[in-house]
Amino acid sequence: MSDDTEDDSGGESTADMEFGEQPAPLGVKVGSTRTVVAEDDADSPSVTQTLTCLATYDDALTGEEHVIYGAEAATEYPDRVRFMLRSGLPEDKETTGLAKRFFEEFASANGLDTDSVVVYAIPTIDNEAGLDRLAEIIEDGPVGERRIASYPESLCGAVPALGDGLDAIEDTFVAINMGSTNLEACAYRRGEQLAPFSTGAITGTEVDRRIANYVEEETQGRVNIDLTTAREYKEQHADFNDYEPFSDIIQQPGGGTYEFTIEDAVMDAVDEFVDAAVDEVANVFLPDLASDYVKIYQQALDNPIVLTGGMGCIPGIVSEFETRLGEEIDREVEATTADEPETAAARGAHRIAERLVDLGEY
Ligand SMILES: Nc1ncnc2c1ncn2[C@@H]1O[C@H](COP(=O)(O)OP(=O)(O)O)[C@@H](O)[C@H]1O
Ligand SMILES: [Mg+2]
Repeated sequence: MSDDTEDDSGGESTADMEFGEQPAPLGVKVGSTRTVVAEDDADSPSVTQTLTCLATYDDALTGEEHVIYGAEAATEYPDRVRFMLRSGLPEDKETTGLAKRFFEEFASANGLDTDSVVVYAIPTIDNEAGLDRLAEIIEDGPVGERRIASYPESLCGAVPALGDGLDAIEDTFVAINMGSTNLEACAYRRGEQLAPFSTGAITGTEVDRRIANYVEEETQGRVNIDLTTAREYKEQHADFNDYEPFSDIIQQPGGGTYEFTIEDAVMDAVDEFVDAAVDEVANVFLPDLASDYVKIYQQALDNPIVLTGGMGCIPGIVSEFETRLGEEIDREVEATTADEPETAAARGAHRIAERLVDLGEY
């Protein structure tokens, strides 16, 4: 974390330096599947996202090692692309180093402002060593010369769901974050996290695994898809409102192609996901919250439950979750999500960063 570095505004024009221009607010989420950055004006931010992965190759002429990241790396080098945060947080020194390299490449390719106040949306996982390594990536990162702050991903993701400003920071509500590697739940009371719960058993990645298995079953063993393809099937086709069976074609090992149609594999997997999430929230998280904070429990359940995280993108998942949870706990509940949940955490973080800049808190 750096202090005042107003004199050190390397790339700024002379005019900017003379008038001591305010730092740029940035909201950043480095997720296990995607990294998302929101910048410029928080009312209509520009949002950049990329897959959190990188591959290296040697320059054919000079032998120098080059780095490519994102979809390009995943597509061109499926054999050696690395998703550094596969389990949600960096697992060791090596992946921490790779993640730093990724973030530097990403920041320079997208011209992210170093003279910035950055808010990071970070997971709520009980893994101190992993969180320390994430902090190292953030603190050594290429942005945030003026100030770096971090807030829970589900709070950031709830910000765009609960109004145009920062109402979420003042409210009392329950947030359920449905990400690639964890299901997280907690209540917020004016930004304070209560009864945080997380499990690595109910996840977007587990859904992808099941889709791959169910596709194999549904095609009588003829089709084996990898996890990237399974994730794409889920992201493109899962839909609780009006799912349509879809077809795909694979190359067969002996040559020739095989066309198949998926009726059930995708929806069976996401259906089980919602049931498992509801079960965990109704029977583990909410009872814990009620036993520690009964008033907050009542108050929070009178407000909409905010679903955050990329799995919230599946059309119809919010009302499906709402109905099934209501049945399970035998009381009426409402659920909501931001538009475009996959970028909501970065956009919420960006709004917080903008407020910090406005308040001169840097
Ligand atoms: N449009 C979509 N439809 C269905 N699932 C999606 C969509 N977009 C993202 N996801 C899923 O959401 C998960 C990523 O959520 P995210 O909150 O970004 O996770 P993390 O914080 O773990 O990186 C992945 O499993 C991804 O496939
Ligand atoms: Mg997450």
